[in-house]
Amino acid sequence: MAKKKIAKAKSKVKVKPKAKPKAAKAKVKAAPKKVAAKKKTAKAASRPVAKVVASALPKVSSKPWGKDGKALDGVRVLDFTHVQSGPTCTQLLAWFGADVIKVERPGSGDITRGQLQDIPGVDSLYFTMLNHNKRSITLDSKSKEGMTVLERLVKTCDVLVENFAPGALDRMGLTWERIHSWNPRMIVASVKGFGPGPYEDCKVYENVAQCAGGAASTTGFLDGPPLVTGAQIGDSGTGLHLALGIVAALYQRKRTGRGQRVLASMQDGVLNLCRVKLRDQQRLAHGPLKEYTQYGQGIPFGEATPRAGNDSGGGQPGVILKCKGWETDPNAYIYFITQAPVWEKICDLIGEPGWKTHPDFAKPPARLPRLKQIFERIEQWTMTKTKFEVMNECNALDIPVGPILSMKELAEEQSLRETGTIVEVDHPTRGKYLSVGNPIKLSDSISEVERSPLLGEHTDEILTKVLKFSPREVAAIKASGATGQAPKAQAAE
Ligand code: COA
Repeated sequence: MAKKKIAKAKSKVKVKPKAKPKAAKAKVKAAPKKVAAKKKTAKAASRPVAKVVASALPKVSSKPWGKDGKALDGVRVLDFTHVQSGPTCTQLLAWFGADVIKVERPGSGDITRGQLQDIPGVDSLYFTMLNHNKRSITLDSKSKEGMTVLERLVKTCDVLVENFAPGALDRMGLTWERIHSWNPRMIVASVKGFGPGPYEDCKVYENVAQCAGGAASTTGFLDGPPLVTGAQIGDSGTGLHLALGIVAALYQRKRTGRGQRVLASMQDGVLNLCRVKLRDQQRLAHGPLKEYTQYGQGIPFGEATPRAGNDSGGGQPGVILKCKGWETDPNAYIYFITQAPVWEKICDLIGEPGWKTHPDFAKPPARLPRLKQIFERIEQWTMTKTKFEVMNECNALDIPVGPILSMKELAEEQSLRETGTIVEVDHPTRGKYLSVGNPIKLSDSISEVERSPLLGEHTDEILTKVLKFSPREVAAIKASGATGQAPKAQAAE
């Protein structure tokens, strides 16, 4: 594996663990050693692979938590991603310690650098918030010299991640066969809109995936059109899926020594996240979905899982209710769940103690046809409080509720700053901006958020220090224009 190289000039936001991660420590201590190995059953003994992996583990580190490198130290990634889905994945890998080298088209780079720009001439927040902790090299992959550099990158990296339109990588000349012949250990990971099938050649963006993956048909209100959600489940969601596939492939490579292809299609990713809706589709065959509000309203179900408004997805009925100030504040609302085990506390809280024993309300099945009436009564109570007052009073009684938090409130939330989920990053041309840090916290691999690279910022460093091209070779590559506009004298030749 390649050696980790961190660009020094980057701003860093370190997120330190608050307390000693006891659970993780306990786990290490509890790891089975030789005694447990003796108790192996005949079945377990027939698994030589597991034995090899276990015995290959190094000595338990005695370094302080978070001070023994990063989870993906030593993994080098050829990042051929653009827009959102692919960059989400490689940003996660970078946060876990991988050395991510982003290959960008000379002159323009990732198209998002210039999209939704809030400050003219400055990398957009769209780009900066998806490309932390990476290095950037500009390279025309369609030129002869560009391909020479790419070949060396393939031979030097452990993973290639791309989310080009279907066939684009092949058209560039980077077929799986060619990559595999250059570097049989390389993992080639792709995001595509669709998996193999009738739509495999289609270009896909976020909302197309939300529609094709089942999210839109099940989002919105019964009497309204399908809706897309603000959460980028098609792009960022698929990036997350791909990252898991890559880490799994890296783990398998430890045993097999060879790379493999990893495919995460956006339709598959969205459908995976809509799993419960496919569950409901099948439940429909056995009768109405009683936890859906439409059941209590006597509205018949059709052939497909309907849009359920804000109904709870599980067996614990819930909806969004107005709170004090809703007339002027679009986010003065709370999600309220009438979880069965705390039903009696809810009755007392809203001033309906009689419902605790009333046959129409005491038991969950009796409540299902009356959910509208029940939530209207609860809303009379929530409207007398702010969403945070409701949150505090309910949480004290173990009643699950969730305030509708605006992006403004989240940006200002101190606890999210303290955990590194919201970070302030400094950028040479933009100045300070807020970003979302690594949402996945590892107790022994602490994420440090570094600003996104400027276009081609690390071209020289990568050509010389990573790929070990000689000064003469670097000069020839540059003169060809493969890394950007060729110097005038040579370009004219
Ligand atoms: N040097 C030279 N050419 C480069 C290059 C480089 N460094 N980087 C990219 N290109 C070329 C590609 O080879 C391709 O050329 P070709 O069409 O002649 O083969 C071209 O740039 C455009 O790439 P493409 O991926 O088709 O971009 P697009 O802007 O037309 O489409 C998407 C964008 C997102 C719709 C498409 O990439 C896609 O469907 N991706 C898969 C699904 C996905 O990830 N979608 C979510 C995006 S958030």
